[in-house]
Amino acid sequence: MHTALPVRRTIAALALTLASGALPALAAPSAALLQRCAACHGATGNTTAAALYPNLAGQSAAYIELQLNNFRNGERPHAQMRAVAEQLTGPDMRELAAFYAAQTAKAQAPADAALERLGRQVFEHGSAGGAPACASCHGPQGHGQQPFPRIASQPAGYTLEQLKVYHDAPKFNHPLATAMKQVAVKLSDKEMRAVSAYLATLP
Ligand code: HEC
Ligand code: HEC
Repeated sequence: MHTALPVRRTIAALALTLASGALPALAAPSAALLQRCAACHGATGNTTAAALYPNLAGQSAAYIELQLNNFRNGERPHAQMRAVAEQLTGPDMRELAAFYAAQTAKAQAPADAALERLGRQVFEHGSAGGAPACASCHGPQGHGQQPFPRIASQPAGYTLEQLKVYHDAPKFNHPLATAMKQVAVKLSDKEMRAVSAYLATLP
């Protein structure tokens, strides 16, 4: 096989890189590794079952890695994702995070104009109860900016579920989750539904 040599050389170079700890792993994740995520998150990080799973496409690599570690150590309790994360090595996580961060997220079609209009209002200007505009942290298009995750194009059901978790959880250990909780407690149920609906349509 004419590809055998370059591939082996790449792996050797990668092993050296990891051993020296000087550079992040830049290898693409193997097909077998991606296969572990595809059933739920889709082949390119756009989920095929929006009612159940979030998109990973276009999410910041740092945030993906942080959440995988949070699932593994139980900081973010979720049995399904914990079982997945426990099987991943550090280099697996970095490769997967870089792969999904480079994919293009697909927005969903508008479904409820009045609700989405209210959601856009909350996103751009904040809530009636004094929550700051989502755009002020998550970026003008919701595409995220360090250390804030991308929230645009996420299935509405997933965003709503996360907002309820931030709203209802008694406390978080992580300062970033605590910052988001302080926002979520200033959103009404209707505002949560509205901003979730709007974000799903935002490319
Ligand atoms: C059996 C289905 C399933 C599989 C397989 C799966 N996930 Fe997940 N994943 C989920 C669910 C459900 C959530 C939402 C968890 C929650 O509600 O907190 C999630 C959430 C995530 C998140 C957090 C996203 C965010 O925006 O906060 C990341 C990152 C993630 N998964 C990465 C992966 C990776 C990488 C793989 C493969 C190694 C994988 N998942 C495999 C179901 C799955
Ligand atoms: C003060 C800055 C700030 C503002 C304003 C803010 N957020 Fe966040 N948000 C964060 C941070 C930080 C995180 C990451 C928290 C974590 O790591 O758990 C986050 C996480 C999220 C997540 C989880 C994303 C995922 O994929 O798991 C959602 C959804 C979200 N925010 C929605 C919103 C919405 C909707 C608004 C506007 C009503 C908003 N945020 C306003 C800082 C902010």
